[in-house]
Order: sequence, then structure tokens, then C-alpha cells
Amino acid sequence: MDTEFNWQNCWYPVVFVEDLPKRKPYAFSLYNEPMVLFRNEKGDLACAADRCPHRAARLSDGHLIDGKLECLYHGWQFNAAGECTRIPQLAPDKKIPATACLKSHVVVECQGMVWVWVGAPDLAAIADIPSIVALDNPDVISVDYTIDLPYDQTYLIENVIDVAHIHIAHHGLRGGGHRDYALPLEFDILEDSVKGIRATYRSIGLNQNRDEAKTGTAHLDFIAPNLISYTSKYQKSELIAGLALYSIPLAKGKCRLLYRKYSNFYSWRERIKPKWLDHWNQNEILQQDMALIIGQYSEIERSQQNAKDLWLPIKSSDTLVIHYRKWLDKYAAATPFYRGYATHKTVPHLSDQHPYDVFSIHTQNCTSCLRAYRFTKQLQKIVIALILILLPLLFVFAGAAYSHVILFSYLGLVLMTWVTQKIRLRFE
Ligand code: FES
Ligand SMILES: [Fe+2]
Repeated sequence: MDTEFNWQNCWYPVVFVEDLPKRKPYAFSLYNEPMVLFRNEKGDLACAADRCPHRAARLSDGHLIDGKLECLYHGWQFNAAGECTRIPQLAPDKKIPATACLKSHVVVECQGMVWVWVGAPDLAAIADIPSIVALDNPDVISVDYTIDLPYDQTYLIENVIDVAHIHIAHHGLRGGGHRDYALPLEFDILEDSVKGIRATYRSIGLNQNRDEAKTGTAHLDFIAPNLISYTSKYQKSELIAGLALYSIPLAKGKCRLLYRKYSNFYSWRERIKPKWLDHWNQNEILQQDMALIIGQYSEIERSQQNAKDLWLPIKSSDTLVIHYRKWLDKYAAATPFYRGYATHKTVPHLSDQHPYDVFSIHTQNCTSCLRAYRFTKQLQKIVIALILILLPLLFVFAGAAYSHVILFSYLGLVLMTWVTQKIRLRFE
């Protein structure tokens, strides 16, 4: 029987393929280890340590030339296998040193996400990626969203496994809950092993008129170490809906959530809605959580006590949270850092350096929001330029028959400036 989770021999989700820059190297980290992703000339992905073997510059600061990653400092080039293919300053009669290579990792694309394996390469099996079977159904549509958060991954997982907080912490928000329905929950733990935790819980929600509670049983699985999967069961068996919450421990006090909600019965409005509009709502929900977790995290880390000594858990509220933290006690001792229920290992203090603004934690990493943000900024500049052009015309043609047209155009542009400013702020 396994008694320890091997944190290296498992797949880590890094980024949605859609959000990966096509012509630039992409930096990320796993448990504080800096790594770089890039594509070779055929478009194949490569992943390596983000450190130049020459003098340790960050390779992700460099650029791609004919599918080779070139270090910005002295121009050494590396191919997707991590081999050094060019050293501009090397005398023509000298061979490139065999040690001038990068430490490479296995990397694959699966279900629109980039997955990295840092353990033994021969053990990396695609079948072990915790993919969502429903997403292979062509009728199922997923809405993806990603955010970087300023705390340890175990705090994020505790937050997203915690069904009990939804109706209180996210009262009144779309995709949130309603405080009247924060009721006792019933949990059934179906499995608790080194592979994770599988459970069901009785959920309380609102009916369509938002005036009456509806109850139902939902499944919640923790697939170790990076996935929380919610699936609902419907009377009509052809209906599919769920939530896959992937995460990656980026560094001390920093993790990333890769959120996917999926369904085969979205309304036409949901289907045509631009992604960035949906992301505004996700940003709101995650920012509410972030404020709460930063407070909780600071207090737990300040106290230097274990959760077991600080908390007063209630069975009909916290069963899954406690099971998850105990899972860490049992299996996570070898991970670089974690916080369990009765044990912990070098859990970092809250990152003071981490910026909390929406642009830093989401927009800059999201293709859809970044495009909408840039468009809004451009539009705003054009509108302001038109206002400046129209302003003198208002006076010049003050008594003219068509002066009211100029006036209404002017007021329309002022209104547009206000609207674009409001939209801009949602991305910043
Ligand atoms: S540090 Fe990279 S080429 Fe010199
Ligand atoms: Fe976005």
C-alpha cells in the first residue's frame, strides 16, 4: 500500500493552451523551481529549467529564433530537446560542451491544457492525466478561466473543496449562492486513499424563480494532487454539467487556479457570451475568496500552530476540508511544502510582493480579457480625440441649424468615455 504521494511522478496543469503565447517563451514555476515553455519550429511544446547553463540568466527573457530558444544575454541557443545548438562566441574549431544543455521535462497538451511531468520521464503516461471524460463529448462546451493567487496551493484547494462557504461568502453573486440556504450539509466519503478523496454531498440551491430551495446530490472528487471535480447528477441522464478546478503550486505563497465549467445545456445566451464577460464574474467571486483566505492564511501562519489546534470544525460543514487536510498529513510529507491538519512543512509566509490587482492576477494571462482590455483602451483614446475635435466646433457652430447634432454627438462621446472607463477598470 502506498503511504506517500510522489509529487514528482504526476502531471501538473500549467496554462490553458489558448493563453500560451505563440511566439514567445513562457515562464512559470513549480514549487519555486523556475521553468520555461516554448514551441519549436514544428509547433511542438518543450519545457525546461528556466536557467541558462552559461551564466544563469532567465531563458524566458530571451526569444525564439527558428524554433530555438535564444538566451538574451550572450545568444546561446537551445532546441526543444534542451541541447545547445549555437554559441556565437565559441571558436569555430571548438565543440559545444556536452554540459551546455538544459534540464528538460516531459510536456504535453491534453484537453486544451498544457501538462508538465517533472519526475522520471519513462513513467509519464498520458492516461494518468486527470482529464474530464465529459469534455471529449462534442456537445459539451467549457468556459475556462485562470487566476494567480497569493497563497499556498493547499489553501486554495481547501477553499474550493469547501461547499459550506458558498452561500455565505458569495451571497447574491451570479454563480454564488444565497445566505438563506446555508444549511447543514450531508457528506458521504466514498473513497479516501493516496489517489485522493471521492465524496457526495447533499446540495442546497435556489430554484429558477430564486424563491425556493432545491436539493440534490452532487459528486465532489479530489484527484490528488491538483484537481477538484464537481459533477451534478440530473434526472435526465443526457444532461451533463460540472466544474473542474485544477491548480498548480507555483512557488512559496503563490498558486494558480485553472477553472473550467462545462455543460451540454448552456442557453444560447451563454453560448454567445464573450469569455471576458464571464471572467468579470469569476474575478469577483475569486477576489471575495482571496480577501478571506489572505486573512485566514495570515492568522494561521502567524500563530505557528497547526489547524488541528486552531480550528473548531463541524461535521455538517467542514467534513471535506478536514478530510483534505488529513490527506496531506497522511501522504504529502515528501512535498516541498504543505499545510495539513496536524502537520505542516515549511509553509511560507504570505507573499508581500504579490500584486492583487485584476490585471496582474488575471488579465495579463488571459487572451480574451487582454484583447478586450486593449481594444477598450484604444477605443477610449479615439473617443477622447473626437471629443477634443468636437469641442471647438460646438462654439464655432453655436447658432447654426445643425448645432444640436454636434451637441448630441458631443454628449454621446462623453457618455462613451465614461462607459469605456468603467469597462477598463474591470480589467485593471
Ligand atoms: S547567460 Fe545565457 S548566454 Fe550567457
Ligand atoms: Fe479573462
